Amino acid sequence: METKLLYLSSGYEDAVNSAADILKNGGTVAIPTETVYGLAANCFDEKAIKNIFIAKGRPQDNPLIVHISDMDMLNRVAFDVPPVAFKLAEKFWPGPFTMVLKRKPEIPASVSAGLHTVAVRMPSDKCAHDIIAAADLPLAAPSANLSGKPSPTRALDVANDLSGRIDAIVMGEDCKVGVESTVLSLVDKPRLLRPGGVTVEELKSILGENLIIDKAVLSKPEEGKPVASPGMKYKHYAPNTPTVLLNGSSEAFCNYVNKRPDCAALCFSEEFDNIKVKKIAYGSGDDYSSLARGVFTALREADKLGCTKIYVHAPSTDGIGLAIFNRLLRAAAFEVITL
Ligand code: TXA
Ligand code: MG
Repeated sequence: METKLLYLSSGYEDAVNSAADILKNGGTVAIPTETVYGLAANCFDEKAIKNIFIAKGRPQDNPLIVHISDMDMLNRVAFDVPPVAFKLAEKFWPGPFTMVLKRKPEIPASVSAGLHTVAVRMPSDKCAHDIIAAADLPLAAPSANLSGKPSPTRALDVANDLSGRIDAIVMGEDCKVGVESTVLSLVDKPRLLRPGGVTVEELKSILGENLIIDKAVLSKPEEGKPVASPGMKYKHYAPNTPTVLLNGSSEAFCNYVNKRPDCAALCFSEEFDNIKVKKIAYGSGDDYSSLARGVFTALREADKLGCTKIYVHAPSTDGIGLAIFNRLLRAAAFEVITL
């Protein structure tokens, strides 16, 4: 299959309209969003949905998020939406926030991997919004990476993973948030399934202490047990090189990696000059949003350094640090050393 590259820089309207046409005709198109690039298809088209799973090599039991461009579209995908969902939507939509709600029967079960629920998000990225609106269709879209690899925050990452496997890629800018959306289930008591661009602190400003943090957020799921968010059970976001997460001060981190000449360090920019092994700074330890923007690119680049092990300096788990820590835990297959 030939993958069309639609460059926003050489004609915004044309690229948006071409993407919408391909989607209306049952195709698969990778689109930029503020979190990570998504691989989109018409959420009502069973065949197109199947092609998403095939292109990514995604396990059938991992459900997709449906993306909408306005509140009217919410009624096309979910029903019995509780009042608190509207409160949350008012505060966090459009933006990096996904709610799990009751699924309308018009949405094929395969979108939700057979669950009776549907995850819904209204992205704030202008291009994502314009494509959904131009297609006039809610779009199912997982992250546009090969399953298991770090999520793509640059058009180039998508092209590397999915060229020849999907119909088109909208070649836009780098993603501004850099980690995926926060996933909150509202089917029962509000439960955080995946930390993301909207923080726990922000959620609590609306939900107070009613918010339940699912244990899959920070701990390894038990073998064979059902999980609330199927996406959280996989080894995920992982470089090919074995990766370990290090918890501790800058000094302890630098000392640890400097004793291991065959390793590479994914560090904070403030530590860069003190590290003597191969290294990539994934952002500033004083600015967690820069770590969020840089973490997936750093995981992809670290693989090219030619080392036997990658050690990553973990951020603390406040604010967006929780989302970064959650992704790094999976990249490291839950191997954490506290220094
Ligand atoms: O920021 C994002 O959310 C990006 C962009 C493209 O919008 N999308 C994304 O999709 O990260 P994906 O497929 O990589 O992750 C979706 C997550 C998975 O962990 C999945 O298990 C969970 O959402 N999920 C989707 N539908 C669900 C449902 N009905 N119930 C529980 N979890 C669900
Ligand atoms: Mg993903």
